Amino acid sequence: MQEKENTRDKFTSGLGTLAATLGSAVGLGNIWKFPYLTGANGGASFLLIYLISTLIIGLPIMIAEISLGRSARANAFHTFQELKPERKHWRLTGLAGVMGAFFILAFYTEVAAWVFAYIFKAVTGGILTTDPQAASANFKQLVSSPVQSLLWQWAVFVVIGIIIIAGVSKGIEAVTKRLMPVLFLILTVLCVRGLLLEGAGEGLKFLFSPDFSKLNAGTILTAMGLAFFKLSLGMGTMITYGSYFDDSQNIPKTAFRVMIADLGVSMLAGIAIFPAVFAFGFKPDAGASLLFITVPAVFTALPFGQIFVVIFFLLAAIAATGAMLSLLEVPVAFMSEQLKITRIKSTIITLLLLGLFGSLAALSESSLSGVRLFGKTFFDIYDYFTSNVLMPIGGIAVAIFSGWIFGHDKMITALTNRGDLKNSGIARVTIYLLKYAAPVLILIIMLKGLGVF
Ligand code: PHE
Repeated sequence: MQEKENTRDKFTSGLGTLAATLGSAVGLGNIWKFPYLTGANGGASFLLIYLISTLIIGLPIMIAEISLGRSARANAFHTFQELKPERKHWRLTGLAGVMGAFFILAFYTEVAAWVFAYIFKAVTGGILTTDPQAASANFKQLVSSPVQSLLWQWAVFVVIGIIIIAGVSKGIEAVTKRLMPVLFLILTVLCVRGLLLEGAGEGLKFLFSPDFSKLNAGTILTAMGLAFFKLSLGMGTMITYGSYFDDSQNIPKTAFRVMIADLGVSMLAGIAIFPAVFAFGFKPDAGASLLFITVPAVFTALPFGQIFVVIFFLLAAIAATGAMLSLLEVPVAFMSEQLKITRIKSTIITLLLLGLFGSLAALSESSLSGVRLFGKTFFDIYDYFTSNVLMPIGGIAVAIFSGWIFGHDKMITALTNRGDLKNSGIARVTIYLLKYAAPVLILIIMLKGLGVF
């Protein structure tokens, strides 16, 4: 173990660890998915289910994943083997995580591609219009162009590839530590802008007053899936990042801070977007295109509009980058450690494979728009299957593994800082939730949401 610690890269400071972990959690999930799902599923009532799932399911699983990773100091796959060598099949959980992270990246990099394209188009003025119809035509024009969809996705690959090759401390930690403060600054500016709009109250009312009639098994599953997605759970991401945590890092405290800050960013993004949506007469339930249609149209109408559009998409790009780094790290760490190849090689191989599977998502609205499985495009399949099936299953597996297989005593040791247990009460509640509440709740919500019973 000692030797492994010396040769393996890891996060070098408490603040850097927090920035990287927060960088993973905060992403397009906050700025793109959260607003459009909340908008489409009844506003505050959806928010409430999301909050409950985050607190009693998400947070314990995040603490568990980080602790398992830190105890094993290994990639997501090897973690399970290291901790329980005699129960080999648990490694499959890690493998499913590696694949899940890969398939999230396959569509996530395309949304990031639209964001990158929009920064460029906002600077050159190409997407600046106050007319909702024209705004939606602009977005259609981008997604229906195979060349643009692919080229921007490749631009995204290059950016995240370079940072990942630079390594855990010199790449991921160094970059996220600088970007996270910028993200908060930009978001605050946009929020103030949103709140100063005439008619902002209606957007806030929408966000904060519940419409319980919109709640059903499907929306509850979506809310729980969002909680997993937002906290980067069930995909081996937090296990992998946990393996880079220092022994002195307080895991429950870090996880709690990440959860609160992540929630804060989602709320701020909602406050930046919804007042504007209502003030300008847009529909809050536009779906996945909400961000790309409303933001340019709404901000263009304001003084210094172009600047706000540019900074909005810059913000989204920063957030997306931190999350993509954590997703890419999962297969890269897995491949370089299991196959004993260099980071450069495993990054390049992963990106080449992503080029293949990612292009199916990238071309979902153009060349491949006619190709559907279960009535969904590749993009939608990747998205739906990862959030609503793989992540919850991964979550159940992690909860059972940590609560029952690895077990109470070893989990307690894993949560200590070199033997010193800081929050014993929280540790006990966490393990209780992992053993009983999380697996049962996830299973019920998932099966009901998928219409199994
Ligand atoms: N949490 C990230 C976001 O909100 C997405 C993500 C999911 C990252 C799963 C890692 C693993 O954008």
